[in-house]
Amino acid sequence: MPAEIISGKELGNELRQEMKKEVDQLKNSGLTPHLTVIIVGDNPASRSYVRGKEKASDTVGISSEVIELPSSVTEEELLGLIDQKNRDASVHGILVQLPLPEQIREENIIVAIDPAKDVDGFHPINIGRMMTGQDALLPCTPYGIITMLKSRNIPIEGKHAVVIGRSNIVGKPVGQLLLAENATVTYCHSKTDKLTDYTKSADILIAAAGRANMINKEHLKEGAVVIDVGINRMEDGSLTGDVDFESAKEIASYITPVPRGVGPMTITMLLKNTIQAAKGLANS
Ligand code: GUN
Repeated sequence: MPAEIISGKELGNELRQEMKKEVDQLKNSGLTPHLTVIIVGDNPASRSYVRGKEKASDTVGISSEVIELPSSVTEEELLGLIDQKNRDASVHGILVQLPLPEQIREENIIVAIDPAKDVDGFHPINIGRMMTGQDALLPCTPYGIITMLKSRNIPIEGKHAVVIGRSNIVGKPVGQLLLAENATVTYCHSKTDKLTDYTKSADILIAAAGRANMINKEHLKEGAVVIDVGINRMEDGSLTGDVDFESAKEIASYITPVPRGVGPMTITMLLKNTIQAAKGLANS
């Protein structure tokens, strides 16, 4: 039986409808969640992501502003703007779109954002809180992946979850969230020898390596749950995940597509984090 498809677009839309109701209630009580997005330079992919975040905020009633800075901006100038937004009580979420130009050290920017406004969940304080099981703003893509699994009541406890990829924003934290759900977690990456030995025993496979179609049915155990985080732009302009969807769906029990899979969930969880930050629950 071919796999069931978990549509991040559909689930994201359902969650956004619920969020809109919550935002309406907050607005009625005098609190309008506000997200500040800062973009540096004119990277077309970054611009398109930021537009998506702005539009999504609008659909749930979150007020948002996009501040565009030239690629020549200095680290001091960017830090100055972040400081101003940290101190502005009407701003609940601050997101600096990555990547940044080379004269700016990303790690200096990430730590400058008030952890209570860090709706990306990238600040080391939020990562530390997440790893120690404390209330935290969670990184959006991992949070979206766990939400997708839970939406289908997919068992995690006691299962073998294999994560391919070890980035700070997806691979590492998604493994931690799966561990917190009592999965047995294996991290694989570009230096892993005999990758298939690990993937073949995965009950849940998270493909977040950024290599188009690197996973197919030969890598999978019958009935595996396959979450594809890859967004690879092909020569013909189309988007492809890290998983060969047509092959993998023959053997998986659940699978996420690309596009309309994990991507829309990332933005949905950003909205959720912004509401959470506005309510002041995280890091309280
Ligand atoms: N660049 C690519 N993905 C992201 C993200 O989730 N947040 C930010 N701030 N920049 C990104």
